[in-house]
Amino acid sequence: TKPLTILGIETSCDETAAAVLRYEDGRATLLSDVIRTQLAEHAPYLGVVPEIAARAHAELADLTVAAAMNTAGLSYADLDGVAATAGPGLIGGVLVGLMTGKAIAQAAGKPFIPVNHLEGHALSPRLGTDCPFPYILLLVSGGHCQFLEVRGLGDYRRLGSTIDDAAGEAFDKVAKLLGLGFPGGPAVERMAAAGNPKAHDFPRPLLNRPGLEMSFAGLKTAVARAAENARSDNEKADICASFQAAICDVLSARARRALEKFDAGTDEKRFVVAGGVASNKAIRAALEAEAEAGGARLIAPPLRHCTDNAAMIALAGAEHLASGRETGEGLASGARPRW
Ligand code: KG4
Ligand code: ZN
Repeated sequence: TKPLTILGIETSCDETAAAVLRYEDGRATLLSDVIRTQLAEHAPYLGVVPEIAARAHAELADLTVAAAMNTAGLSYADLDGVAATAGPGLIGGVLVGLMTGKAIAQAAGKPFIPVNHLEGHALSPRLGTDCPFPYILLLVSGGHCQFLEVRGLGDYRRLGSTIDDAAGEAFDKVAKLLGLGFPGGPAVERMAAAGNPKAHDFPRPLLNRPGLEMSFAGLKTAVARAAENARSDNEKADICASFQAAICDVLSARARRALEKFDAGTDEKRFVVAGGVASNKAIRAALEAEAEAGGARLIAPPLRHCTDNAAMIALAGAEHLASGRETGEGLASGARPRW
């Protein structure tokens, strides 16, 4: 089949990203992969502020796309299509990326492919490593916490998700409670390294229930109570370690159940973890152990593609274009913040 060259754009949260990808015979080669994080702009507020994100995307989108095109050494005429995240995400940012992508596609006379951000994450392991369908995906980030069975392009089954907070959100809230700054995950992980994971017996919500749902709100409340009396760094480290241990237990138990349920037929069982939280070493190790026990191969995209990026959006666009499947109404596609 003819190779496809696709520009991808991602603006749904706090990274402004653009990437150019070449797709041939089911294999992706990145020609450029630009990610501009807005972390510094949001840090003073200890979280992502939608209005600040929208303005930053508006300022950065054109420059980021230009950087991706320059690095790839291509002009718009060389593209076979333009893909952009159409949702879910923060409406202001999604609009900026969508309008940018549509304008380029319109001006260059190329197809426009609206991409679901979650599908981008679901396909992200296919950017590099050898990761054929089907596989189980655990997506754990600040906005998402769910198990998906990825059976093929456009064929996803949600096995279970959090009923309240996402795991990354819990990390961020715990960091806020303990005054550790934003983003919370890395700060909590650093603190946890010096603490005793058995110091506090924090709840493991829903653990004895069947199914694959998760809940982290009660855990956060328990941490808040413990945090009221924590003054010293040692006390904070114990809270972080105990909290992280609870998250590890919940994700491990759910991963075990997901792997038990997953019938890969005669094929190798593949278990993919993606999302910012997957960069946590303790969590990664716990999931690695579950994969091994469940006879599965653990696949973790490199950190750069675990968190928000445009390469995964370009890949989703390329795979859809190659398959001839429509993902939306092309240039008439609107933003879908809750897609
Ligand atoms: O995938 P991501 O960059 O953005 C989205 O939320 O879509 O994930 C960011 C989340 C934040 O909540 C952050 O605190 C968490 O991932 N995170 C971590 C670690 N690094 C980032 N959580 C635990 N441990 C980490 N090392
Ligand atoms: Zn994301």
